[in-house]
Amino acid sequence: MSLDDIDRVTVLGAGNMGHGITEVVAIAGYEVTMRDIEQDLVDDGYESIQWSLEKLSEKGLIDEDPEDVMSRVSTEVDLETAVEDADLVIEAAPEQMSLKKDIFGDLDEFTHEDCILASNTSSLSITEIATATSRPEKVCGMHFFNPPVKMDLVEVIYGEETSDETAETVYEFTEAIGKTPIYVRKDVNGFVVNSVLGPFGDEAGWIVSAGEATIREVDATMVHERGYPMGPFELGDLTGIDIGYHVRKEAGKDVPPIVEEKVEAEELGQKTGKGYYDYEDGDGADYG
Ligand code: 3HC
Repeated sequence: MSLDDIDRVTVLGAGNMGHGITEVVAIAGYEVTMRDIEQDLVDDGYESIQWSLEKLSEKGLIDEDPEDVMSRVSTEVDLETAVEDADLVIEAAPEQMSLKKDIFGDLDEFTHEDCILASNTSSLSITEIATATSRPEKVCGMHFFNPPVKMDLVEVIYGEETSDETAETVYEFTEAIGKTPIYVRKDVNGFVVNSVLGPFGDEAGWIVSAGEATIREVDATMVHERGYPMGPFELGDLTGIDIGYHVRKEAGKDVPPIVEEKVEAEELGQKTGKGYYDYEDGDGADYG
């Protein structure tokens, strides 16, 4: 399968990453199906793409009319129907290995034999996900960053059995949708970006949990002294505090108490209106 053979793309998941990836693929001119397990989830994701395209259009960041881009996006709930014509599937389901393996087992059955199966996992082993299929050479990682429409980088990750042909096709596809790919040739936990970003977020959690600094102090330091686009707590609110929590748990790591508290209180960030900052009754991530 080469880049020219990729005609139809299916994205599994309509959450932040799933709808964002769907949007990026549609903007690039591909027909794309976005699938989630319930119609409400699919509808929410669809509306988020419409909102985002309007924003981009207002700012002159896309040339096409948003409605023309949307005409290339279809939605589906049934997995088999969603993937039966796909040449590339990008899975963006929750970060649980057992769930991913179930999905990849189904994909192996429902997709045509040349179809490439990519996972947007942020830290789970591509090699292990691929064991759920009979075509590990066609399985690789394709890790986008949140929000996909704004973030340039995509990690293209080799599992132990990923073929060069598969990785190269996904690399070229990443360029074709206007992103900058990098190869990650070792299937290590966290790949490259989260291997570096993870300890940064963890350390922020531990020093706030220990009462050594406040959330605002940490975020302000990283933005105003280090020049980061946002601090680790605002970033947690953007990506979803539960996402980082599950990544740590799946890796068998201790979770800082501040993260546990937020997950238990279901204050997961922007998507619930409250996380480390209050986006409904407060000023949001305002740290000067
Ligand atoms: N689509 C369209 N517009 C959007 C948008 C989207 N998805 N998200 C935000 N916007 C809009 C906002 O509504 C706002 O619009 P306004 O100007 O009309 O108010 C505008 O974009 C915000 O623009 P800003 O100038 O304030 O911000 P920038 O565009 O310069 O930067 C950012 C925003 C790209 C999110 C930047 O803050 C950033 O880079 N943050 C860090 C993000 C990051 O590190 N992501 C990686 C997370 S780790 C990850 O994803 C890994 C995973 O495995 C968990």
